[in-house]
Amino acid sequence: MTINDVLIFDTTLRDGEQSPGATMTHAEKLEIAELLDEMGVNIIEAGFPIASEGDFNAVTEIAQRSKSATICGLARANYKDIDRCWEAVKHAASPRIHTFIGTSELHRAIPNLTMDEMAERIHDTVTHARNLCDNVQWSPMDATRTEWDYLCRVVEIAIKAGATTINIPDTVGYTAPVESADLIRNLIKTVPGADDVIFATHCHNDLGMATANSLAAVEGGARQIECTINGLGERAGNTALEEVVMALKVRSDIMPYTTRIDTTKIMNISRRVATVSGFAVQFNKAIVGKNAFAHESGIHQDGMLKNKETFEIMRPEDVGLSGTSLPLGKHSGRAALRAKLAELGYDMGDNELKDVFVRFKELADRKKEVYDDDLIAIIRQNDGDEDRIRLESLAVICGTQGPQSAEMVLEVDGETVTTKATGDGPVDATFNAVKALVEHKARLQLYQVSAVTEGTDAQATVSVRLEEDGRIATGQSADTDTVVASAKAYINALNRLMVRREQSQPGYDTKGVSYKDS
Ligand code: KIV
Ligand code: ZN
Repeated sequence: MTINDVLIFDTTLRDGEQSPGATMTHAEKLEIAELLDEMGVNIIEAGFPIASEGDFNAVTEIAQRSKSATICGLARANYKDIDRCWEAVKHAASPRIHTFIGTSELHRAIPNLTMDEMAERIHDTVTHARNLCDNVQWSPMDATRTEWDYLCRVVEIAIKAGATTINIPDTVGYTAPVESADLIRNLIKTVPGADDVIFATHCHNDLGMATANSLAAVEGGARQIECTINGLGERAGNTALEEVVMALKVRSDIMPYTTRIDTTKIMNISRRVATVSGFAVQFNKAIVGKNAFAHESGIHQDGMLKNKETFEIMRPEDVGLSGTSLPLGKHSGRAALRAKLAELGYDMGDNELKDVFVRFKELADRKKEVYDDDLIAIIRQNDGDEDRIRLESLAVICGTQGPQSAEMVLEVDGETVTTKATGDGPVDATFNAVKALVEHKARLQLYQVSAVTEGTDAQATVSVRLEEDGRIATGQSADTDTVVASAKAYINALNRLMVRREQSQPGYDTKGVSYKDS
């Protein structure tokens, strides 16, 4: 590692997945981890192993399958969390334990610890972690609102106890770029032993400054950026990986730092994370938004035709976007589909391709031209291997003559069940049918429809968000029939809610628990 190398630490599967509604299944987590590893992410924070059996199993399997990335798990400042984390990450060729505690006055009040008691706990827990693993990251949560003297004191304790990376989180997205750079710079200057560890920056985007704050922290001396794909994360999200990586690449003239990320893989993983998390990417999102490379106004198009650099600071190919190409149709064969998928960044095995080909043919029968976005939409369909509820068939009556009704057949835990329900319109009738067949008390929080492409035969993408006892799950589906897409999206959200029920996230503190209990 040279002094200008910046490590990319991705926490999509931990801080990102923690975001309400962003639940991923086990298979989806493995797939995202594999894509992160392939794109060159240095450290993957794969989950919070103590949180649930599901999280533990996901971190374990990601560790077992890891190729070149370091696999990290999160643990609160107690021995039980740390032991459980180690049990999961130890299977990786390069494992890391990440342990943290809230150090600001507000956070110290939660476990009700004095400054001295917390300092002792930091010493003991980092020592415990380091006795298990050579690679230990420590974070003072809410560092940017922690008293300066106390922050220096606890960082020094963690370094002396064996931490190899010190992460400085801006947990509530409060800091600003100048402050972010100064904080890291001054910590490195002030704390004894700071030169022997790597400083990391972990920013949240509450004021929209996460990317700027992360880059400023690098100017201040941080050499690890913590981030997520699409900026996924609680509230306004975390620093977006694609933004910091592309900013460092495009503005290397003023920020001479390098990452080992293969930027051509950005678009593919962005789409995948949007699908599995159910968090669609806003059209005007930097780097990965649908409009990020679209030039529609007359002036822009004119300039682009003369010289692309007039309005383009990076090439679409640099982030894995292919130029516009011809749509496929119902006569297109498997080879054409394979070539098109490869162009879009999907490298598929024969079985997977067979599956997508069937869906493509079904779509091409209903739709004259199948565009790139149509293909992405059918690939994004949840393949449903782990689903407990599946849609078998749906027949809907709607129109001015009423009453609107939906006749539905579902497979629920392997059993076929049928019903007919009425409602205020076809979608309401369809959702009532699902409710009649699968008893649940989830509340519909969001129902959203958008067209994938233009024209009346376009596929509709439907997003559904359900809430049950504070748990949120989002489902998505696409179909040329809006009501079918709605039914599938609702069922998808319900399947995810069931996964969510099995994962009970613990809070950040360990009140009442002796931190030394193993
Ligand atoms: O934002 C934060 O403080 C965190 C810590 C657990 C590192 O995510
Ligand atoms: Zn965070």
